[in-house]
Amino acid sequence: MGNLQWDNGGKNKNSVLTNPSPAPAPRRVKVDDKRIINCRADVNQLMPIKYRWAWERYIAGCANHWMPTEINMQRDIEQWRDADALTADERHMLKRNFGFFATAESLAANNILLGTYRLITNPECRQYLLRQAFEEAVHVHAYQYIVESLGLDEGEIFNMYMEVPCVHDKDAFCLEYIDTLTNPAFATGTPETDRQLLKSLVAFAMIMEGLFFYVGFVQVLALGRQNKMPGCSEQVQYILRDESLHLNFGIDVINQIKLENPHLWTAEFREEARAMMKAAVELEFRYAKETMPRGVLGLNCKMFEQFLRFVADRRLAQIGLEPVFNETRNPFPWMGEVIDLKKEKNFFETRVVEYQTGGKLNWE
Ligand SMILES: [Fe+2]
Ligand SMILES: [Fe+2]
Repeated sequence: MGNLQWDNGGKNKNSVLTNPSPAPAPRRVKVDDKRIINCRADVNQLMPIKYRWAWERYIAGCANHWMPTEINMQRDIEQWRDADALTADERHMLKRNFGFFATAESLAANNILLGTYRLITNPECRQYLLRQAFEEAVHVHAYQYIVESLGLDEGEIFNMYMEVPCVHDKDAFCLEYIDTLTNPAFATGTPETDRQLLKSLVAFAMIMEGLFFYVGFVQVLALGRQNKMPGCSEQVQYILRDESLHLNFGIDVINQIKLENPHLWTAEFREEARAMMKAAVELEFRYAKETMPRGVLGLNCKMFEQFLRFVADRRLAQIGLEPVFNETRNPFPWMGEVIDLKKEKNFFETRVVEYQTGGKLNWE
């Protein structure tokens, strides 16, 4: 048996183990050895924990456990079959969202497992990412379950990202960054590649999970508030609760990388990140218009434009960037807590879920 060495002798390490030789004496990891990217210490030693926030999000994610099949879809099935229960515009809006989310959740899972996980070189962050990856699988399951329950055309829903421009364009925007991270040849360790990772985190956590999901969330939840498609709305509430944690974890990761690598956060980089958010708002606004061309449920496109600008500015502020739009009003005050995303509690009335042991979740 050869000498297995867990310290890679000072080389940048994105992988789990290396086995170089000759092996130095084994060494215990100290807190100060830990780095969120480009760590040179053994990534298998969870303790001592350096990033308490990562561990706490992992615990919160576990406390939020749910499964799509626990949600009763009977009312939704009846309403979907009843020609008078939903308007054509409402059906169009729902289908677009199912199509968008069905693929976006898969992209999220692949991005984490094939990209982010490898490049974030810290065990407590990886513990959270493992939990997040499972949650993305649950979300994929949720849309599979909705499609199956309602008897939707699965070919139509699952191909929407290739066939409907407003869906395709959002995914294409993120795919550029996902492809960088998931390329097995990509490694961090230079200012350029470290910035590429940061940009991908902005694209995924801040834009995909923090902006591109939000028109859909508002639309489906607005239907639910009118007792339309209550099962779908409940599924989306659970997804939104998970996504709140994903977003906040992403914000913490970006801020930690900044803290440890201030040289990456140049004026040029900051401008690039703001420009990405601006372009993303355009795409999401186009999506809003296409999903509800005539307005639905008292919602109209103008409100969504304001909402997206408001959310985008908040996201930028959360990673220490100047606003792009200076929009301070939220046209959907009932989404207020959803945007703040500080709480693991839910903001809508619903039932208590049995997984919530230890008083962790309190649905009020
Ligand atoms: Fe998700
Ligand atoms: Fe997510």
